[in-house]
Amino acid sequence: MRERRDIRNGFRPDPIPHEVLLRVLEAAHTAPSVGHSQPWDFVVIRSEETRRAMHELAMRQRDAYAKSLPKGRAKQFKELKIEAILETPVNIVVTADPTRGGRHTLGRHTQPQMAPYSSALAVENLWLAARAEGLGVGWVSFFDEREMVRELGLPEHLEVVAYLCVGYVDEFPEEPELMKAGWSKRRPLSWVVHEEAYGRRTLPGGDPHNLLQETLRGIRPLDAKALGEAWERQKRMTKPSGALGMLEIISAQLSGLSRQCPPPIPEPASVAIFAGDHGVHAQGVTAWPQEVTAQMVANFLGGGAVCNAFAGQVGAEVCVVDVGVASDLPSTPGLLPRKVRAGTGDFTVGPALTREEVLRAIEVGIETARDLVAAGNKALLTGEMGIANTTVSAALVSIYTGADPAEVTGRGTGINDEMHARKIDVVRRGLELHQPDAADPIGVLSAFGGLEHAAIAGLLLGGASLRTPVILDGVSAGAAALVARAIAPEVLAACIAGHRSAEPGHVAALNKLGLRPLVDLDLRLGEGTGALLALPVVQSAARAMHEVATFDSAGVTEKN
Ligand SMILES: Cc1cc2nc3c(=O)[nH]c(=O)nc-3n(C[C@H](O)[C@H](O)[C@H](O)COP(=O)(O)O)c2cc1C
Repeated sequence: MRERRDIRNGFRPDPIPHEVLLRVLEAAHTAPSVGHSQPWDFVVIRSEETRRAMHELAMRQRDAYAKSLPKGRAKQFKELKIEAILETPVNIVVTADPTRGGRHTLGRHTQPQMAPYSSALAVENLWLAARAEGLGVGWVSFFDEREMVRELGLPEHLEVVAYLCVGYVDEFPEEPELMKAGWSKRRPLSWVVHEEAYGRRTLPGGDPHNLLQETLRGIRPLDAKALGEAWERQKRMTKPSGALGMLEIISAQLSGLSRQCPPPIPEPASVAIFAGDHGVHAQGVTAWPQEVTAQMVANFLGGGAVCNAFAGQVGAEVCVVDVGVASDLPSTPGLLPRKVRAGTGDFTVGPALTREEVLRAIEVGIETARDLVAAGNKALLTGEMGIANTTVSAALVSIYTGADPAEVTGRGTGINDEMHARKIDVVRRGLELHQPDAADPIGVLSAFGGLEHAAIAGLLLGGASLRTPVILDGVSAGAAALVARAIAPEVLAACIAGHRSAEPGHVAALNKLGLRPLVDLDLRLGEGTGALLALPVVQSAARAMHEVATFDSAGVTEKN
């Protein structure tokens, strides 16, 4: 099973003897199936004409998919081979007949999808048997299924489960081709095994651990050896020493974080926008109605917000996570539904969240980091949307910097003097009510929220544990980073301050964190916009380490 591979390269044109193909098809036909309905058929295609027609269909879908990708991904995708329709002597279409077995197929009563699942099991059998025969198999799913049914002249009631390219190969790579190309990473088994209940992750024989504890164990300081190599390389690069200023610090940080010099170029990248609502909105701390949170989420998903424009410009993916929007959001491509609760409680009258809810929101952030990194992202960016969330950020910054609420409470989306005074008073009342203990970061988040702050803290911790850089956006990210640092000080190894926002609390947070922002343009929007603008700067820092010649290699004389 470990040696089975999806193969797209290196096929030989040799024909497949009938007895070999028969053994492979027999293996497929012994697969388990719902109600023993055996819903599969196998259409063996050898004709070059048919394969050409299928190849054309697949190429059209490939182009459509490429156009749908963010630039950072599209560059990678261009290098990938996704089919071997014309290079293989045999293509096999595996179908599922949802009507086979009659109306009362045992086990398909409530789950009609069991028919195609059964055919997929036949594919796996076929794949393993082919491997044993030295045959490579490549599964192609770049088809519009109905278009395919028509082109192949299949009966209309059939579903196409798989289109397989089969032929002899000389070798089976040890790792999936997508992994070798840096497109994806293998998820560890420990991420996906739960004992008794979802979330109690453990491998058989181990103790169930919570996700936060496991994540904290993976967070390490910057690697001294790689850091040293980076500083050394900076000195040897064909430029005056220190001439790249802050970029030299960033590239050294990236080296220490990844334990590699030069460090991986942080591309592709994804901005994770966590959305949540706030009970403190009821105190009149913003001019915007609460429903704008959900409306802006719809705008992000529709591609019409500033973050979409900036992400398009810098080639990043936009990933929107509902961690606590007050209203129900319709299921939409690009939206991760991870609602912990529908908005926080008003922190001026009681705790915003329970400790349990805080931990769940942190886990949402950790899992988002895991998913994005396993999907091949090499940089994460923070983003957030939550009407009234600068009030929460101000409280968190005040707690962790010791600054008076009046110094760190800004005007957010733009409020008048009267509302600003009320906002400061609201923060002050919250601090008096909860008497927060900065040494208890979960307690602090429980008192004030917000769900998106907790999730961003989780994203930072998750990114750090996966040795992946996280570019911070504005004041909410700064506030969340202060909380994350209180949970695990070494989290800062992964953090890069993308920009400095116009919110006064952000400056206080960055000073406390000891982070220098890369972009300073009076932005105060959120949504990850400042982090997105900083992404090319971070990428340039890493690229310089890869591409700039050294004095010795370029034959350039050094300064006396
Ligand atoms: C349902 C399914 C559809 C797939 N479709 C494609 C495809 O269209 N093009 C492609 O290159 N690989 C395709 N693959 C192969 C996967 O990329 C491959 O299984 C994965 O990268 C893991 O590699 P491995 O099979 O070598 O372990 C598909 C695999 C499955 C299971």
